This record gives sequence, structure tokens and C-alpha cells, in this order.
Amino acid sequence: MTRVAVLRIGHRPERDQRVTTHVGLTARAFGADGMYLAATDHGVVHSITDVVERWGGSFFCQDKIKWRHCIQNWKDNRGIVVHLTMYGLNLLDVIEEIKQEDKILIIVGAEKVPGEVFGLADYNVAITSQPHSEISSLAIFLDHLFSGKELKNKYPDAKIRIIPSKEGKLTEEL
Ligand SMILES: C[S@@+](CC[C@H](N)C(=O)[O-])C[C@H]1O[C@@H](n2cnc3c(N)ncnc32)[C@H](O)[C@@H]1O
Repeated sequence: MTRVAVLRIGHRPERDQRVTTHVGLTARAFGADGMYLAATDHGVVHSITDVVERWGGSFFCQDKIKWRHCIQNWKDNRGIVVHLTMYGLNLLDVIEEIKQEDKILIIVGAEKVPGEVFGLADYNVAITSQPHSEISSLAIFLDHLFSGKELKNKYPDAKIRIIPSKEGKLTEEL
């Protein structure tokens, strides 16, 4: 079951490919189950799928998503929607409440997020009330959501893994 997913909106294929790929990789590395991309960009899907095949786990990435439909569908399946925005409530004031939920859709924007999203979200959450980035806000949100436990996650069916070492780069092909 998909418990935590990211919905990336406002992606412009000609400018945002790298950042959106990093949103997906961050979502995967910090414990989310998958990313819905509200745009058509096979390049992003391909890059992320490539990482999953090599580094393991079952993270999904789907493009061509209609964001209104995705939000409605998530809510219909008893999920809650968290929109990350610097205008929202401070993370530390709401995270304990959000942790009680079973299904969480996290929305991150690119440039300007449509006003409607603020109303559709169950929580508008600020990771500080300062402007920064969708990547940093997503990483901090997920780390608080999972209380840091995701930092030790294992990724089944990997073809390669890193052997943590004090110096140099140690990897193992599996
Ligand atoms: C480059 S910012 C766009 C900022 C834009 N001015 C806006 O209307 O939110 C892209 C995304 O980063 C995330 N973001 C940036 N700063 C944030 C913060 N302090 N707290 C939570 N999310 C943030 C939001 O998801 C935002 O849509």
C-alpha cells in the first residue's frame, strides 16, 4: 500500500528536469513510496526508474498526472494532503498530529503554486517561514515524519550497495 507519496506540481520540462529528478530521488532516499508528476516528462521517470533498478526498493514515479484528480483520489481513499509552503504553519507545530495519519500525500511546487492548492490541502506546512527549495523542504519534512528512522532504511533487490567507510568509496555488486 502507498502510505506516503509526493505530488510534484508546476514542473516545466524545459527548466525543471534536474530539480524534479532530485525531488524524486530525495523522496525515495528519505522513505516515501513514490512520486506523482503533474506533467509529461519521460526523462524524469526514466532517471528515477534507473536508480530504483540499480539501488533497489520499490519507489514508483508516474508522470502525466492530473493534480486535481490525484488530490481528490487520495482523499477519497482516506488520505490526507500536506502542502509544503513557506506561508504555512510551522512544521514543529503540526508534525505530531500529521504523524498519526496513515496515508499522506505531500505536495511540492516549482514556481508559483495555484491558490486552489492551499484550500485543498489539509495542512499547509512551512519548513521555516523563509524561502528555500522543494528539495530541502521535502527532505526535512520526511525526516521529521519518520523521526530520522528512514536514515537506516534498507532497499531490497539492489544491484549495488555502498559499504559505509571512513575513507574512500566502497561498493558491493550484488
Ligand atoms: C522555489 S519554491 C517556490 C516559492 C514560491 N514563491 C511559492 O509560491 O511558494 C518551490 C517550492 O519549494 C517549497 N518551499 C520553498 N520554501 C519552503 C518553505 N520555507 N517551507 C515549505 N516549503 C517550501 C514549496 O513547495 C514551493 O512550492
